[in-house]
Amino acid sequence: MNTTELKLSAFADGQEPTPRPRENAVPVDPPVVAFAKLYISNGSVIPPSVMAGVSWVGDFAQVVLHREGPFQVVLCLCRPNSNITPHGHPTVDSLAFYISGQLDFQIERDGRMVNVFDPGGMIELPDGRCALNQAMVRFMPGQRHAAKVGPLGGAFLTIQHWLDGKPTSVERDWDGAPLSPDHAAVLKAREDGVTV
Ligand SMILES: [Fe+2]
Repeated sequence: MNTTELKLSAFADGQEPTPRPRENAVPVDPPVVAFAKLYISNGSVIPPSVMAGVSWVGDFAQVVLHREGPFQVVLCLCRPNSNITPHGHPTVDSLAFYISGQLDFQIERDGRMVNVFDPGGMIELPDGRCALNQAMVRFMPGQRHAAKVGPLGGAFLTIQHWLDGKPTSVERDWDGAPLSPDHAAVLKAREDGVTV
């Protein structure tokens, strides 16, 4: 088992950032984890795009890198000192995959928001990589999460499984306060049944 497989297997149960021993359990990957393994094992984190999808919400730019059936991979770029307020995606099971910058993810567990990564891990290693390279967290459907972005900005991938089989953009499947006036307008239109 290589390093990537080991890290992905840690999220098969959806919650813990490190593998836990389980007795008498037959591990079955949820679809989003199985797809993430397939995607990463293809040899490239960012393969040629199959759809030119770019969207913006507030301080965040999103690029669809890959879309296949109910799955997609999206690169998210965050402006320095931006803030993703707590929200959930009722129809999306996803993995957030750290790429670069200062990203402080939080996730709701037992009714309170907790930090995902050790802030002390956001350091440069002697070989030039960030100690958090390949770190990831799973956001289960509806599970609230948030992020604070530091002065350097940040970038992450989200590997998504859309339970309705129709991937669009996560800001449209949003349970939480809007991130910008434009975002509020999109959410209001969807609430009113208007296609935008
Ligand atoms: Fe989200």
